[in-house]
Amino acid sequence: MATHNILIINGPNLDQLGSREPEIYGHMTLTDIETMCHAAAAKQDLTVNFMQSNAEDGIIAAIHTARNDGTEAIIINAAAFTHTSVAIRDAIQMFSGIRIEVHLSNVFAREPFRHHSYLSDIVNGVICGFGADSYRLAIEAVGHKLHTKA
Ligand code: DQA
Repeated sequence: MATHNILIINGPNLDQLGSREPEIYGHMTLTDIETMCHAAAAKQDLTVNFMQSNAEDGIIAAIHTARNDGTEAIIINAAAFTHTSVAIRDAIQMFSGIRIEVHLSNVFAREPFRHHSYLSDIVNGVICGFGADSYRLAIEAVGHKLHTKA
């Protein structure tokens, strides 16, 4: 079966996972999450390109590249940019494949400024609150969508 290419984007401060507020974000490092994503993706015949940037321009450039390199889905944890960035929203809106927003924490159980997302209304779905498992669930959702054309 032909593999499908997907891009997983991680926004600011996620490179600090493991030591960053572990009571909220858990103990896994971003490298641990990346390893888990590759394993989960392989089961779905997906190939993951996994990236992290602390800057909007790095994230936007990755989305632009994904528009033209055969990427079929983007899973994005835009981190704090979720709540602030019209520019990332505009870039995601230009991407014509599957779009899924993820968060480790349940943003709706946290401070009110985290309740608004610039992405939620332009993505296929949002998965939050399951820790690193949010990524695995998103990968399974992408796999299901691609394999069933749902
Ligand atoms: C986060 C939630 C955001 O509100 C926060 O700014 C993050 C991480 C999450 O994965 O839970 O950096 O996106």
